[in-house]
Amino acid sequence: MKNDYEEALDFDKRMKRDPFRKILFDKMLKMVEIEGNEKILDVGVGTGILEEIIANSITTGMIIGLDKAKARLKVALSKKIFNTFLILSTAEKLPLKSKVFNYSFCILALHHFKNHLLALKEIHRALKKNGKLILCEIIGSLNLTINKIVNEAFQISHGPDHVVFNIEQLEKLLNEAGFEISQREHIPYKFDQEGPEGIPMMHHWLQAYNIIKDRRDEELLKKFEDEFFSVEKINGEIKRIRGQLNFLILVSIKSE
Ligand SMILES: C[S@@+](CC[C@H](N)C(=O)[O-])C[C@H]1O[C@@H](n2cnc3c(N)ncnc32)[C@H](O)[C@@H]1O
Repeated sequence: MKNDYEEALDFDKRMKRDPFRKILFDKMLKMVEIEGNEKILDVGVGTGILEEIIANSITTGMIIGLDKAKARLKVALSKKIFNTFLILSTAEKLPLKSKVFNYSFCILALHHFKNHLLALKEIHRALKKNGKLILCEIIGSLNLTINKIVNEAFQISHGPDHVVFNIEQLEKLLNEAGFEISQREHIPYKFDQEGPEGIPMMHHWLQAYNIIKDRRDEELLKKFEDEFFSVEKINGEIKRIRGQLNFLILVSIKSE
């Protein structure tokens, strides 16, 4: 069995190999222009993959990456990333002064946090006036029955705090935390392939698909297939899987 550090190394390798991640990072960095003098906070920094990309553009500024997982921070630390400082802490109680940061990133991490609203309020507090939060999330369905099932499926492995938000829920949370949303970019991850290999988080999405299929509700299944994906099976084995998962980047401003 792998220890936490080996798992963190694996995570780092997998994520760096993933071409879709590169697409997400490119989009995010096009939505905000980093000049080099900014103070940047990355909440749920993981192994510092974003920092490896942006650190060289930071001249007089600095980056603080924060995560609750020691092993992931250890991997990030071993990279000795320029101008980047790492903090072991939870997002819900940032050990940071208020009104310090120009930008905060939160990439594919919010859905893991225990208290999403509190974490967003903390990020809001740490940002300067007119500071921006760049949030990237995989998103669920606006159909609440489907979204409930998707969440049930994810919670089987991740526990009851894990939430796959739909766009409305995410925007409501951001507004409640005090943010004004200024840019939205929807990025579909499309696939048409023999098995689920390589598709992010597909294990959970297939669980959701199976729960819906077991309900024998043709209308609901059709809605799921139209929004996400369909699965062709032969003798119980997946033959083909085609459709998409949906990612969203939201840029929000702290206007007060
Ligand atoms: C899927 S990873 C994403 C990491 C990184 N943002 C990236 O894109 O590679 C989510 C990260 O959120 C961290 N995390 C989960 N709950 C947290 C919390 N309450 N406070 C801080 N970090 C947390 C996890 O340890 C994990 O490193």
